[in-house]
Amino acid sequence: MSRSYSHLGVVVLAGGLLTGGGVTGAAQAQDADPGAIVNALVTAGGNQPKVRASGAKGVCVKGSFTPSAEAPGLSKAPHFTKTVPVTARFSMGGSNAKISDKAKPVTRGFAMRMTDPSGDMVFVVISAPVFSTKTPQQLLDFATVRAPGPDGKPDAEKIKAFATANPETTRQGAWLNARPVPASFAGVDYWGVHAYTLTNAKGVATVAKLKWVASAGQLGLTDDELKAKPDSFYADELKERLAKGPASFDLVALLGEPNDPVNDPTVAWPEENRKAVKLGTVAIAAIEPDATCDAATFDPVVDLPEGVAGPATDPMFAVRSPAYAVSLSRRAN
Ligand code: HEM
Repeated sequence: MSRSYSHLGVVVLAGGLLTGGGVTGAAQAQDADPGAIVNALVTAGGNQPKVRASGAKGVCVKGSFTPSAEAPGLSKAPHFTKTVPVTARFSMGGSNAKISDKAKPVTRGFAMRMTDPSGDMVFVVISAPVFSTKTPQQLLDFATVRAPGPDGKPDAEKIKAFATANPETTRQGAWLNARPVPASFAGVDYWGVHAYTLTNAKGVATVAKLKWVASAGQLGLTDDELKAKPDSFYADELKERLAKGPASFDLVALLGEPNDPVNDPTVAWPEENRKAVKLGTVAIAAIEPDATCDAATFDPVVDLPEGVAGPATDPMFAVRSPAYAVSLSRRAN
């Protein structure tokens, strides 16, 4: 990926912390092959044919995005100047297309494409403020230790040893385990996990993490409610919900402060102490045929407009584009 960040008004130090100034610093050398990561992710989910390497089970939907009055003050993206159409997909984390909707600790995913004649704005986000790994090599290792053995189960000892040696990879699971299983794809918040840089028409750059706040609130299932549910209920729940009206999410920018890490998606910012600016509202209106979402991939790296940039120093960000492309070619052929 060759992108110039020199026009931005922030500095990312070699250590990946946010300070004031212009952006410098190259991504750390990370050499895990995106194809190998995709293979390991698919293997960990039981090696099912024609599946996404993550988010294999999901529901395709459509709706619109309406920006707030404040949004253009932060970003010059055309998508922040008018209501635009949205194609989106809610999903369960992982490559097991038969995973139970009751699974825990598993992220729920929300991939969305805001379309505009000038180009798309794509975000692919999860129901946790942190990702599970901080480098592509660590993701490869994380997935590899989860490969099922001859008995169809991964080696619990190997997983334990990996977690002990890589404590930051346990944060996401701990966060999810501390919360109930969502009752609805529309009843949980989603996070972009990476630090984005928003640049307005005057060239002023702001580093922010993005969060999608569910208008329905956090709809968690009690243990008894969870037990009573079938393994697949999200698709029907969403259909019933949308028959009554759109399911919406406020897109909020949580503004970075000095020393907030910008290159490590396993670390959350203390968001209760960060200024939050509403950028707009995503309103999901209807179910869309799977084919619409299956035809392409939601590429959160390449499909960004001027005025929204991913983090140059976060190695987990850049690797998503080639990995999603490999996954698409595997499931499309
Ligand atoms: C770091 C934050 C990340 C988040 C929040 C995230 C989230 C998601 C979500 C929600 C999906 C489902 C997309 C859909 O419904 O079509 C997905 C798909 C996928 N993710 Fe990620 N992911 C992240 C990082 C990565 C990384 C680092 C890799 C690999 C290096 C990766 C590999 C994939 C692949 C291969 C797919 C399937 C894409 C397709 O077939 O269309 N993800 N991801």
